[in-house]
Amino acid sequence: MRELTAETHLHRSDLIYPMFVAEGIDSPQEISSMPGQYQHTLDSLVKAVEEAANAGVLCVDLFGIPTHKDATGSQAWAEDGILNKGVARLRQEFGDDVLVMADTCLDEFTDHGHCGVVTEDGRVDNDPTVELYQKMAVSQARAGAHIVSPSGMMDGQISAIRDALDENGFEDVAIMAYSAKYASAFYGPFREAVDSSLKGDRKTYQQDPRNFRESIKEVELDIAEGADMVMVKPGLPYLDVLAAVAEMSTVPVASYQVSGEYAMIEAAAANGWIDRDRIIMESLSSIKRAGADQILTYYAVEVAKKL
Ligand code: PBG
Repeated sequence: MRELTAETHLHRSDLIYPMFVAEGIDSPQEISSMPGQYQHTLDSLVKAVEEAANAGVLCVDLFGIPTHKDATGSQAWAEDGILNKGVARLRQEFGDDVLVMADTCLDEFTDHGHCGVVTEDGRVDNDPTVELYQKMAVSQARAGAHIVSPSGMMDGQISAIRDALDENGFEDVAIMAYSAKYASAFYGPFREAVDSSLKGDRKTYQQDPRNFRESIKEVELDIAEGADMVMVKPGLPYLDVLAAVAEMSTVPVASYQVSGEYAMIEAAAANGWIDRDRIIMESLSSIKRAGADQILTYYAVEVAKKL
């Protein structure tokens, strides 16, 4: 009877699995603040994606960790940059059996750890950054990405990337826009996951956690600029924003259950303080109930196997 009357059902096809591929390692490295998640080699990445695909996960989201970082993040658009190599390898192995989404942001590639280039006085410079995102997105499309996902919160990034993709013959490559992305402490473990060099914060380009209205504005802009999907991030702490965006959006809406949400569940469960499996399903069901069409979660494979 409960199953018959349940208003919310998770499906395997809702889940997107964020993954990390690193240069300069010869075996997968577990991320200490995200137990069970790894920095992968190209070979271990293929195995892990095979496991995800076999479990019914339709889409993986790839982040790259280069050995060489510089002021502009030039490895981000290099054909032999680690992220592009990872994307190309997955397309070669899986073709269209699994959707490959690439993170389109410079923070893993810059030596200062910011999502863009910085001016002499240390501010992130919007317009030159967007030009680099264009190069990065085109290189990702060339490597075979089905979806690019600009996560840097620069103004005008969606229309600029759409134009660059179209001009280079990649009309069919979709854009998942990180539209309402907050300057959140919940990204803490991710910074370890990508060996981030960031000192300081991202408050000049990500949103203030105390604010709501700007999210609606950002989503409206991104849809007008050509986003195929929009995202609210983080997940559980921003369900009010997610619900409002789901109400007004004319394109699918994703939510990202981020590294800090994962780490909190794992840490509490390791102490025996919570029922891990029930908390995972309850969290994801809540995100779905609030209106998410897709959920990016480090639990994607584990949960897909259960569904
Ligand atoms: C930026 C990016 C971040 C995350 C995804 N893309 C970090 C940030 O904005 O500081 C965080 C994801 C997570 O915490 O799981 N490229």
